[in-house]
Parts: sequence; structure tokens; C-alpha cells
Amino acid sequence: MSRNEATASACGKVILCGEHAVVYGRPAIALPLTHLRTTATVRVSPSHTAGQWEIVAPDIYTRFWRHENPDHPLAKIITLILARITPHTDDARSFQLHVTSELPVGAHLGSGAAASVACVRAIAEFFEAELSSETISDLAFEIEKIHHGTPSGVDNTVIAHEQPIWFVRERAPSFIHTQAQPALVIADTGIHTPTKISVGAVRAAWERNPSRSERLFDAIGDVVAQAREALQEAHWQRLGALMDKNHELLQQLGVSCKELDEMCFAALKAGALGAKLTGAGRGGNMIALAHDAAHAHELRHALLDAGAQRVF
Ligand code: PMV
Repeated sequence: MSRNEATASACGKVILCGEHAVVYGRPAIALPLTHLRTTATVRVSPSHTAGQWEIVAPDIYTRFWRHENPDHPLAKIITLILARITPHTDDARSFQLHVTSELPVGAHLGSGAAASVACVRAIAEFFEAELSSETISDLAFEIEKIHHGTPSGVDNTVIAHEQPIWFVRERAPSFIHTQAQPALVIADTGIHTPTKISVGAVRAAWERNPSRSERLFDAIGDVVAQAREALQEAHWQRLGALMDKNHELLQQLGVSCKELDEMCFAALKAGALGAKLTGAGRGGNMIALAHDAAHAHELRHALLDAGAQRVF
């Protein structure tokens, strides 16, 4: 007897270091944000024609039936997952997919990939299909292409696996085992700049002056390699210094902004071991490394005073 309802969730993510350069083949380190989640619930809707489905996503003021908005990323992910699993079932029940999220949208914390992964998991469970994390990541990657244009795949990979990863484009991720978690404080500028914009600006600069951009990408790649060791050895002082270096290189790539710089400065002034923007930049979130949980609390206040819209 198949189920009438299934719920699944997916985490958010932060990029610890390596964003943008990762699009050009350098490594990045990304961490799952397990306490900030997107949840998808699939419920049978018996009164409708077989094979119909409706999406309800109140956080983004979205509600539509499949034929009304087939190009919406949520509609695309449903179409992809159904194409993958329905050959194995003759189940054509109508359903409603309800999506809610604790993640801010368009803030570079992986809200798009988390929505895709949560929907894939919930629909697979509803139709009792087993999917590996790799397959879930691959399906979500197809939707990342709509959001980002030329995504590296780092977001869908860290979110589908929900583990700290060392990621190089077009290669299987390796999982990073840590003795302890860094005390990261995440603060939102409240400015929402689509990833496509800053990825496009980096691309345009690379086309204008490829050798300058490649030098910056190489320097970021070196930072990421050293950050991996610092993270594995829980050497927070060193990791903080590398985050600062990474932020400087991202400034040179042109993807920071006044608000991100001010929040990084405020965090350092309040004693953070390091601070940098995270994700695509030009708004969205920054991360600051605290000494411990008590210090993280202090940083939270310093960041709110510096204009953060919210701190996670
Ligand atoms: O959308 P964001 O902010 O998570 O950006 C992803 C990281 C980038 O390196 C800027 C883009 C990519 O595809 O890797």
C-alpha cells in the first residue's frame, strides 16, 4: 500500500572558502547548515485528474498547477524527478507539493538547491523510490543551471550529501572529517543580488583580462588548500587568517560590496578570528569565525549593530 503523504527536508550551506574560483576549476570548501532547513511535503489530492500536481510555496508567494507555470524551477524539478521514477511505477496519483523554508531566499545560503533536494526527496519517498545522494545531487544540479547559468555544482553537492566537502568541479566530492566544528556566525546584509549577476561580472572581468583573473583564482586555490588543513586540525587562528585573505581576494574579483566589507570589519573589531563574504557576494551573507560559543554571541550583537538584517 503506497503512502498518502511524505515529508522530507534539506539543509542550507555556506561556502567556507573558494567561491567563484571554483567555477574555474579551483577547489572550494562548503559546509552544510543543518539547523536551517527547507521542508517539502507531498500529499495526495484525490479530487483531481490522474497525474496532476500543484505547488504551494507560501514563503515565495507561489501557488500553481503544473500546466500554469511549467518553467518555474520547482515545476522543473518535479518534472525531472517524475521522469526518473515513474517508469518504475504505474502510480499516477495527483498530489500537492508544499514547500516551506527557514533559509532566506537569494541570500547565498543555498535556498535554491535546498528546495530542489527537499522536493526530490519528498517525491521519491511518496512514490517509494530509492535514490542515492549522487542522483539527488545530479537532479538538483539541473535546476542550479536555471538559477545560476554556469554553476560549479558545489551547492547541490554539499546539500545532497549534508557533509563538509572539498569540491572540485566535475569531480566526485571528498568529505572532510573534522575533530571539531568552527564557531561560525552567519550574518545577512539583507541585500539580494542574484548569483547570476556576480558570476557574470567575474566572467566579464576574466574575458577582459584572463591572466589577472587566473592569478586571483590561483591565489584563492592556495588559500583553500591551506584552509582544509586548518579545518582538519581545528587550527582556528590559522583558518581565520585564511578567511581574511580569501575575502581580500574576493574584493579584488569585484564581488564584495560596502555592506559586506563593513560587516567583516565590525566582526574583526569585535575579535573575530577571520571574516569573509560567503557565496556569490554583492550582498547576501558573510561569515565570521568566533573563538567559541560565548564569543559567537558577542559577534552576533556586533554584527546586528553593524547593520546585519539577521544573524544565524
Ligand atoms: O549562489 P551561491 O551564492 O551559493 O554561489 C555559489 C558559489 C559560486 O562559486 C559563486 C557559484 C558556483 O556555481 O560555484
